[in-house]
Amino acid sequence: MSERSSVTIDVHLNNQDPAAVREEIRAGLLATPRRLPTKYFYDDRGSELFEQICELPTYYPTRTEHALLTGVADDVMARTGADELVELGSGAATKTRVLLDAMARKRQLKFYVPFDVSEGIVRRVARELAEEYEGLQVHGVVGDFLAHLEHIPQGGRRLVVILGGTIGNLRPESAEAFLSSIERETAQGDFLLLGVQLITNVERLEAAYNDSAGLTAAFNKNMLLVLKSVVGAEFDPDAFDHVARFNHEEQRIEMRLRSVRPQVIPIPELALTLHLKDGEEILTEISAKYTRPQVEALLTRAGFTPVAWYADHEHLHGLALAQKH
Ligand code: AVJ
Repeated sequence: MSERSSVTIDVHLNNQDPAAVREEIRAGLLATPRRLPTKYFYDDRGSELFEQICELPTYYPTRTEHALLTGVADDVMARTGADELVELGSGAATKTRVLLDAMARKRQLKFYVPFDVSEGIVRRVARELAEEYEGLQVHGVVGDFLAHLEHIPQGGRRLVVILGGTIGNLRPESAEAFLSSIERETAQGDFLLLGVQLITNVERLEAAYNDSAGLTAAFNKNMLLVLKSVVGAEFDPDAFDHVARFNHEEQRIEMRLRSVRPQVIPIPELALTLHLKDGEEILTEISAKYTRPQVEALLTRAGFTPVAWYADHEHLHGLALAQKH
């Protein structure tokens, strides 16, 4: 008899203190320069838009990482012997299937834990994968991986993966704190596979965030709609331009929303009236690009031991495998 798959979903986002949520947004809007938390890109529509961005010819990271993973997944599974895959920022989990397939080939696939801020996508992915992989136990977690990491269910021999360069959304200090918190939540011998976008020429980098179809612009502006549902803010998306530039000093793409005119935006829930000047910008995302030594140093500072490094032949994307000792 074949084993049956099972699905469990835990939702932690609703447990967030509404006052803390409001304060985080308010503090960002009042900071100099102004900024908004990147996680607010990802409601169901935002996740959908990001999936469409991944199909764009100019947005190379996803397809590069997919091809890279396809080539190295068996090696990763041979080195780790993992029977549980924990994916932080799982999104549509397209690349995940490459890893799950490799685990299934070794007959060691037991558990999959998709962890994402977007509830709709966690539920969809959990359902799909439980159906596709016989006997797979899926335990989805809906949460903010900077706040709810302790809710990763206890499991088997774990491989934690962070793909797509999600780590690039974090400033260096937060990236290190995040990896350290993963180190604390995992057991001795567990592995981490970290995907990073590598530094390449500026034209290519900027083109990836300025597509002519306007999808990245729509993705960026979607945050304004999400903020309407989160704190009732009445932003007019048409009153902002999408801006994405490479910051050489910090080695990162920075996305902003630029006000196209002077605006006064009352946000009663935040006890705030926002005054934006013509041309004033709000930072919505950083997307840091790394080098191999930087990634390995970061992993080491967080308490992991780097054990393997993989990159595509153009050195656009890297995957660092590390272990907790
Ligand atoms: C999901 C964080 C990897 O930074 O490249 C894509 C998000 N932003 N286009 C990235 C994104 C604009 C993406 N990550």
